[in-house]
Amino acid sequence: MLKIDHLSASYKTIDGDIHVVKDVDFEIRDNEIFGIAGESGCGKSTLLKTLYDIVEFPLQIDQGKVILSGTKNGKEFSFESGQIRKSWWNQISYVPQAAQSVLNPIVRLKEQFLDSIPAEDKKNETEKETLARVASYLEELGLSPDVLEAFPFQLSGGMRQRAIIALATFMSPNVVLADEPTTALDVVVQRGILMMLTRLQQQFKNTLVIVSHDMGVHYQITNRMGIMYSGSFVELGPTTDIFDDPIHPYTKMLIGALPRVGDKSQKVGIPGRPPALKNPPPGCRFAARCPMATDKCRQDVPVFREIKPGRYAACHYLESEVN
Ligand SMILES: Nc1ncnc2c1ncn2[C@@H]1O[C@H](COP(=O)(O)OP(=O)(O)OP(=O)(O)O)[C@@H](O)[C@H]1O
Ligand code: SF4
Ligand SMILES: [Mg+2]
Repeated sequence: MLKIDHLSASYKTIDGDIHVVKDVDFEIRDNEIFGIAGESGCGKSTLLKTLYDIVEFPLQIDQGKVILSGTKNGKEFSFESGQIRKSWWNQISYVPQAAQSVLNPIVRLKEQFLDSIPAEDKKNETEKETLARVASYLEELGLSPDVLEAFPFQLSGGMRQRAIIALATFMSPNVVLADEPTTALDVVVQRGILMMLTRLQQQFKNTLVIVSHDMGVHYQITNRMGIMYSGSFVELGPTTDIFDDPIHPYTKMLIGALPRVGDKSQKVGIPGRPPALKNPPPGCRFAARCPMATDKCRQDVPVFREIKPGRYAACHYLESEVN
């Protein structure tokens, strides 16, 4: 399980701090596909970096922590922010945004696989035996083992992305984080990648966290999702509930702007832009775009809380049905 405990993080710049993750507090459960959605620049990738513990200058955690815990091979493990990297590949792995660039273009894929497998997992195997395991894993995923002999630049974008996902899942980690895994790929390839990710999650019964600005991706494969706005979650809950009955004004506008089959009406985007993260306004960060905003909204930050069982949102004007 991944527990995110009142986490805030910012980028330190010479012009001041950019508060990109603001008091984010939620849990990602075992054996679920959890989606993180939101407009460009709202902090999705930064949040994922903090989950994977790549917190390097200029990024800094200001408050809170991330806890990764679970069981593997019959053993319990628990790591906090600052230690999670000890469990990279084995217990948690990460497919970064623009992942194509994580592969070294001039190193054959087989070397990149061998480098990523920790020594203790290679046991007493010869290199040939390890590569045979990798090759059979690739075949299981519908990839030709020939890709191991290839340089990344020789593969198509879709093949490279599949190879990266294979690399990230080879050690069957408990948690896989994937940042925009289908962006920049054509629709058919996108569908193949989403099928691959879902199949892997079903096979390993692990946790898959998918970041995507594409609501269609969340609709297709996630079980629960969180909607981010300007550094915080504004709504979180089961994906079908969010699509069928959004409760936060931002989510309502986001869902209302999606095209639907058979609906010929003109869809308009959400007018306005999110506030600058350097000097965000006090109060609700959505206030400048919210049709329901009042003076209270412009002054007080709404608390992110459970509104209905399993459904969370941050808005002053939502009554909680949960005690
Ligand atoms: N290294 C950095 N230094 C300063 N600011 C940064 C840095 N990296 C990102 N930011 C800022 O942090 C904010 C959030 O960026 P982030 O990449 O997390 O957003 P995102 O939701 O993933 O966006 P996208 O959908 O475009 O990928 C943006 O305003 C961005 O400009
Ligand atoms: S707190 Fe106010 S501004 Fe923010 S979403 Fe709710 S009604 Fe809109
Ligand atoms: Mg991003």
